[in-house]
Amino acid sequence: MVFMMQCKTGVIRFSVSLPPSLVEEFDDVWKRMGYENRSKAVHDAIRAFISDFKWTQGEDYVAGAVLVLYYLDKPRLLEKITEAQHKFRDIISSTTHIHIEEDKCLEIIAVNGEASKIRRLAEELMAKKGVKEVKVAIIAP
Ligand code: NI
Repeated sequence: MVFMMQCKTGVIRFSVSLPPSLVEEFDDVWKRMGYENRSKAVHDAIRAFISDFKWTQGEDYVAGAVLVLYYLDKPRLLEKITEAQHKFRDIISSTTHIHIEEDKCLEIIAVNGEASKIRRLAEELMAKKGVKEVKVAIIAP
């Protein structure tokens, strides 16, 4: 199996040995996902691999979004969520508030910074009473 990879100076071609069953399964998946060729699928898979690793390493820089779903039925919750964001303002680039229902809100916090700080922000938000769900989507830029 020969992979083509883009890099700053063009592309690097390298060969990789893989079990046929893994290649078959990979080919099946990228075709079902609508990819036109294996190279782009491999490129994206490697990127996801790098992002996943960097997310597990505290000091690496990553970018992404923290999604916070909460109900306004707990006292001072909105204030506490705002306080937490002020505390982590060095890694927050913007916040979008979506009023989902009368008493249900979703906040999309755009983040850019050290993975460990983003994780701490997510954990702090998650621990608050009234916060129903927190999800983090991260890429390594
Ligand atoms: Ni709202």
